Amino acid sequence: MMKTIFSGIQPSGTITLGNYIGAMKQFVELQDEYNCYFCIVDEHAITVPQDRLELRKNIRSLAALYLAVGLDPEKVTLFIQSEVPAHTEAGWILQCISYIGELERMTQFKDKSAGKEAVSAGLLTYPPLMAADILLYNTDLVPVGEDQKQHIELTRDLAERFNKKYNDIFTIPEIRLPKAGARVMSLQDPTKKMSKSDPNSKAFITLLDEPKLIEKKIKSAVTDSEGVIRYDRETKPGVSNLLSIYSVLGNISIKELEEKYAGKGYGEFKQDLAELIIEELKPIQKRYAELIDSEELDEILDRGAEKANYVANKMLQKMKNAMGLGRKRRR
Ligand code: AQP
Repeated sequence: MMKTIFSGIQPSGTITLGNYIGAMKQFVELQDEYNCYFCIVDEHAITVPQDRLELRKNIRSLAALYLAVGLDPEKVTLFIQSEVPAHTEAGWILQCISYIGELERMTQFKDKSAGKEAVSAGLLTYPPLMAADILLYNTDLVPVGEDQKQHIELTRDLAERFNKKYNDIFTIPEIRLPKAGARVMSLQDPTKKMSKSDPNSKAFITLLDEPKLIEKKIKSAVTDSEGVIRYDRETKPGVSNLLSIYSVLGNISIKELEEKYAGKGYGEFKQDLAELIIEELKPIQKRYAELIDSEELDEILDRGAEKANYVANKMLQKMKNAMGLGRKRRR
């Protein structure tokens, strides 16, 4: 039987090169071999405050981008999380078997709550909702970037806990990290990961940035004063980050890049990288423009929600039965 993949992206801004390289690019490679569910996880996005109109726009834009990068709606199920209510129901059930301690240990929670006065309870309980997203579809494999590793481990723990305590209904999912580019770093602080919600927009490149802006952002990317193009994450995090982006998008090894740019300055290197990114994004942006206001996009999302609801509801019913919720169903 074909194995199943699930992965989600938050509509908390426009997809960055980090999300693309860490997650989306793998999706496209996997769609032929797996039964794929790709989700716009809007209910995760509201764990931090969102502007209503901005959120609406980002949801649609993310849907169009999923398709624009090359996902084929005939092969994959693309849907919006809040249009499949089983996710929050299953998320609640999994919250009830999660321990506060294990949720408080999540790095993403610590990072996103650090120094904030008001932190939503949802930010803490986001991982069980993410576990629900994954477990509802009998997922075998979750392709994500490295920052999500801890959440996938928790998902596995919760699934095993549920299986042991109630009934053996969940498939235990595996994580799949990309071979390279699992962690793309901020262009302004290369010790931090690139994030679409970074308040400094120079820190990231979005898939919808115009060529001129891409050039500007790459040129102002933080490097160092050594002037040598060499990979060393410890002492040259900025240059190393640019090298790995170049390597993934150009399909060229870091070693070859070091040789290619031996004796050359950062200016030339950055110019070439900017052009490479612009070329990579050109067809994506073109397809995006065709899709964004189309009825086709709505039809794809309608079909996706219908299929996802069907599959997710079946698993949710199994969860409820296993725990004794509601009435026993006679068939
Ligand atoms: N910097 C990154 N490098 C590689 N992969 C990354 N991902 C995120 N950042 C990088 C991967 O992108 C997918 C979608 O992530 P998400 O939107 O669900 O949440 P996130 O990981 O919190 O991403 P952001 O961009 O940092 O969003 P905000 O700013 O809203 O928190 C995941 O597979 C993730 O691993």
